[in-house]
Amino acid sequence: MRIAVTRRIFDDQLERIAAAGELRLWDSDLPPSPEELLELLQGADGALTLLTDRIDGAVLDQWPNLKVVSNLAVGYDNIDVPAATARGVAVCTTPDVLTDTTAEFTIALIFAVARQIVPGAHIAWEGGWKTWYPMRFLGRDLAGATLGIVGLGRIGRRVAELGAAIGMQVIYADAFMDDDEFRQVELDELLRVADIISLHTPLTEETNGLISREALAAMKLDAILINTARGPVVDTVALVEALDAGKLTGGVGLDVTDPEPLPADHPLYAFERVTIVPHIASATHATRHEMARLATDNVLAVLQGTEPPNCLNPEVLSNGR
Ligand code: DGY
Repeated sequence: MRIAVTRRIFDDQLERIAAAGELRLWDSDLPPSPEELLELLQGADGALTLLTDRIDGAVLDQWPNLKVVSNLAVGYDNIDVPAATARGVAVCTTPDVLTDTTAEFTIALIFAVARQIVPGAHIAWEGGWKTWYPMRFLGRDLAGATLGIVGLGRIGRRVAELGAAIGMQVIYADAFMDDDEFRQVELDELLRVADIISLHTPLTEETNGLISREALAAMKLDAILINTARGPVVDTVALVEALDAGKLTGGVGLDVTDPEPLPADHPLYAFERVTIVPHIASATHATRHEMARLATDNVLAVLQGTEPPNCLNPEVLSNGR
């Protein structure tokens, strides 16, 4: 069997793949172009992909041998799952192993924004620290603040628990979840009353642009907005306008952006109160290794005819390609 891996991952997992069949590795830190991806997967039986690889029906048609796409991520908005199902291709993901890590990072980003850690570090780094400033870098306390979680899935719920542990009043909006521990509200109410709004929805047609011009207008003037979900959940143009208009004085923390990566000359970088990091919420050694292990388990299981740990469309396993 031939297995394509679209980026260098941990050696021990690449060795497992190489032991099971022919490994085709895109050995780079940067993604293959769409043409290079087409070529890499030519004749492949399985693919271990990243969230930056676009897999839709048109490209699946070019790879008639492909039986499984195993994404190294919990999110799968880069893959057209119905198109894969229609073609008998299994789609697998890596949930659970990154929940704590991503939630902890979200809390770190909330702290960083609320307490101006990045602007403070910049000043020290640039030699601008002249004295103890009684009136500079004044942030906001988190204990007692209202934390609004948009999307109470695995990661959102863990953020809610951690937020509650540091004394935040947690509310959440999620049409599909009913949780006794935290107060459920409509999204409109959450946007109006939350001091900190943290996004944890998958990217779907419904959530694309969810944080629209109107949603931003509904937020408190000094609200903090945190996005560790997917960039397009926030309307970037509307966000820049809101920041320009003096909204969100509490700050914004973005682990994900639209577009991604965010070009170096993007207007969002002009705002000191916006902290942008390059999609690193799941980036710890242990978690990224677990994600790689699970993605490898998934691709090998499908190709060896056993049950993969996390398949989104298990119906194709018995009657797939
Ligand atoms: C995911 O898994 O979907 C994250 O965005 C990266 O860990």
